[in-house]
Amino acid sequence: MVDTKSPLDLVCEQTLSDIRLAGTFKTERVISSAQNPKITVIDPQTGKPKKVLNFCANNYLGLSNHPQVNQGAKSAIESHGFGMSSVRFICGTQDIHKELEAKIAEFHGMQECILYPSAFDANTGFFEAILNDQDAVISDELNHASIIDGIRLCKAKGFRYKHLDMADLEKCLNEAKSCRFIFIVTDGVFSMDGDIAPLPSIVALARKFQAYTFVDECHAAGVLGQTGRGTPEYFNLPPGSIDVISSTLGKALGGGTGGYTVGTKAIIEILRQKGRPYLFSNSIAPPDVGASLEVMRMLQPGSPSLDLLAQLRKNTTHFRTQMKAAGFTILGHHDCPIAPVFLEDARLASEFADEMMRQEDIYVIGFSFPVVPKGRARIRTQISAAHSSEQIERAVKAFVKIGIKKGVIQAAKL
Ligand SMILES: Cc1ncc(COP(=O)(O)O)c(C=O)c1O
Repeated sequence: MVDTKSPLDLVCEQTLSDIRLAGTFKTERVISSAQNPKITVIDPQTGKPKKVLNFCANNYLGLSNHPQVNQGAKSAIESHGFGMSSVRFICGTQDIHKELEAKIAEFHGMQECILYPSAFDANTGFFEAILNDQDAVISDELNHASIIDGIRLCKAKGFRYKHLDMADLEKCLNEAKSCRFIFIVTDGVFSMDGDIAPLPSIVALARKFQAYTFVDECHAAGVLGQTGRGTPEYFNLPPGSIDVISSTLGKALGGGTGGYTVGTKAIIEILRQKGRPYLFSNSIAPPDVGASLEVMRMLQPGSPSLDLLAQLRKNTTHFRTQMKAAGFTILGHHDCPIAPVFLEDARLASEFADEMMRQEDIYVIGFSFPVVPKGRARIRTQISAAHSSEQIERAVKAFVKIGIKKGVIQAAKL
């Protein structure tokens, strides 16, 4: 191999050095165990494995390495093989793909479901396939990147309302009211702030302006509501209140890969016919489908596994209450298992997270600009049903120890 650098290499190297200088270069920690509350990571300093408690996975129900879910994947490999080597409409649709789509539609109380390789694809594929330049999309300013990209790809007029601000949403609805169709788009749970979209107010405004609602439930499906049906269930909204829901199989619902959109038969059929990430990307692999079918069985009404949701609520309250009592500012909604520990300063957040890992064996990550606004740095912790109360207490103790050392909280609060 010739070791010369092209002009493109040189520009990339300059960009990388700018990213490093700005302090936003992301390094990836290497995990050598399965995804669990307790994991083994490779210490970057020593190169040796180290056991730590994990408080930064989207493993809300603890299903990422659950024996039943693993067995679902293994059985599907045995019966349906490893991969499909095809998009869905050529030869990538198996009976289990159809079965999973039916189960997910039922889970959300919707007519029909379409699977995608990821929720990112589900969101980028939706708007372009359904809307045109006579339409409008009104989006919460903190919606996920995949929604922002999806809206960019379509010709509809785009409006952005201030985060969770219903007066501003109403203003946008007034501006858009001459459009053929209006979609109000929101995350159900916002992943950086751990807050919950006020769906009852959004639905009321949608009715008033005859608009449609689209909710991304990636951090809410399998998380919120008595039976994990997400934000609509959390607010006790009647079935059919939301027009379109997208979500992922990659977080609470097993943590593998895959995403989906649910809605009416007609909307979903258009996505099958016209959705580019569906038409031009591989079918989701049989083991992911098998594992997800098992998750759907575990979340059936009456299943003992629904206790995991109660455990998640208990663990969330435990962590949030103890952290607040210790004097920390915890952002977001008290029922949300995303519990960001607000620190304001970017360097403090990154050094704090680093010491939690190095000295306390607690794996948490600091988030700062550009992922969150300048001066709003935080450590985002995520609680799982699989955390034991001892593990939660250990994490709180570690936060308190480092928090006192760094002057974030005072010892008297202990
Ligand atoms: C709100 C939201 N939407 C969409 C996605 C994309 O999900 P997936 O990993 O399935 O592409 C994510 C994942 O980070 C998310 O948090």
